Amino acid sequence: MFKIKVFCSLVLLVALLNGSSSKVAPSYIQTCPGLKSDCLKKVVQETLPLFSKGIPELGVDSIDPLRQDNVNLVLPGGFKVEFRNGTMTGLRKCTIDSVLYKNDAADLKMHCDLTIKGMYTASGRILIVSINGDGNAKIKIKNASLHAKIKFADNVRDGVKYYEVKTINIKQDYGDKVTFSLTNLFKGNPELSEAVLQFLNQNWKQIAEEFGQPLVDKLVEIVYNIVKRFFEVVPKDELFVEE
Ligand SMILES: *[C@@H]1O[C@H](CO)[C@@H](O)[C@H](O)[C@H]1NC(C)=O
Ligand SMILES: *[C@@H]1O[C@H](CO)[C@@H](O)[C@H](O)[C@H]1NC(C)=O
Repeated sequence: MFKIKVFCSLVLLVALLNGSSSKVAPSYIQTCPGLKSDCLKKVVQETLPLFSKGIPELGVDSIDPLRQDNVNLVLPGGFKVEFRNGTMTGLRKCTIDSVLYKNDAADLKMHCDLTIKGMYTASGRILIVSINGDGNAKIKIKNASLHAKIKFADNVRDGVKYYEVKTINIKQDYGDKVTFSLTNLFKGNPELSEAVLQFLNQNWKQIAEEFGQPLVDKLVEIVYNIVKRFFEVVPKDELFVEE
């Protein structure tokens, strides 16, 4: 009799353990019943540093650092830039200002300092200066503000309901200051390189606003693919809880 009881308890225990470990999402993922803004803001803020590292077991890459080996951009006016070994850091430290969820769409406002680094090759004209460069690049954006709109849609696969990301749109404000540190902006001419760099830094706002969009679009595309993956593998009921 006693033996049977122990056996039953073991079966129950194993069942319970299996039940809790059958979740796909990492244990740090919390939910907000009713999807209220205050809760969402807190949860997104707390989850961001952990999520940013990536979830290798789910095939979700890191968003901080965000890595991309090769990015080719054509900026307005035909200015060509190639970035190699690019990284962006800072997203994990974003301050979440607000989160609203309504009608299958989330609206997030946040601000953070972002740093982009890599090796670059560039040629063309920016405002009044010509560039023919090949060197190291570092771009710091102080207190960028980001306004993201994320649209979701239900998708059922193998009888499991997922809530997948359809689009991410970002509106950005380049914040308090953008600082360019670029070596060798004019190949083989250190004096001219330095003068061009000074010009870029003096005119950072106009340059960011007139030429920044293709880079932002590329960054959003990379982040989108990572976030999309997460919502494709984690079932909806682990993330979205109605009241
Ligand atoms: C990129 O960085 C890795 C290591 O950080 C290095 O092995 C590789 O050579 C770099 N690529 C280029 C194109 O320099
Ligand atoms: C950063 O920008 C936000 C607006 O996006 C502003 O509320 C905040 O005060 C700024 N922070 C700093 C440290 O300047």
